[in-house]
Amino acid sequence: QTAASFYEAVGGAETFRRIVAAFYREVAGDEVLRPLYPEEDLGPAERRLRMFLEQYWGGPRTYSEERGHPRLRMRHNPFTIGPLERDAWLRCMRIAVAEIEPEVLDDEHRKALLDYLEMAANSLMNAPW
Ligand code: HEM
Repeated sequence: QTAASFYEAVGGAETFRRIVAAFYREVAGDEVLRPLYPEEDLGPAERRLRMFLEQYWGGPRTYSEERGHPRLRMRHNPFTIGPLERDAWLRCMRIAVAEIEPEVLDDEHRKALLDYLEMAANSLMNAPW
């Protein structure tokens, strides 16, 4: 199946909005992650991650219109991301994804999404400690 149908199949903008909102709610209370975020207001970071994920899964291409090529490794260089940070990020993301009902996100799409997030988080590690 194509990426465009993934975005639609999981409920489109509303599902991505809910996942990323829940993720940043978790980040706000996470003692490992919260200090990494440079801005006091997490709203703009929430918007960037939501736009990126929507685009990745075949939704609107607003992310690249506003930000250009994602270059995620480069954009994460300012932050030390070792196993601790990776695990914290994935913990928050898994909590967020778990809040989406099975009627909206079925097992197959859920697995594809979680596998991708795990792969992406591993690929953005830039510190061995
Ligand atoms: C930006 C941390 C993994 C996508 C950021 C920012 C931080 C951060 C501190 C800056 C906030 C902002 O101003 O936007 C982390 C940590 C990770 C992680 C600790 C643990 C592995 C990921 C993954 C993805 C991702 C796996 C994608 C699937 C993004 C995007 C941005 C961002 C799209 C905004 C980039 C831009 O400036 O356009 N991340 N991140 N991050 N992160 Fe992550």
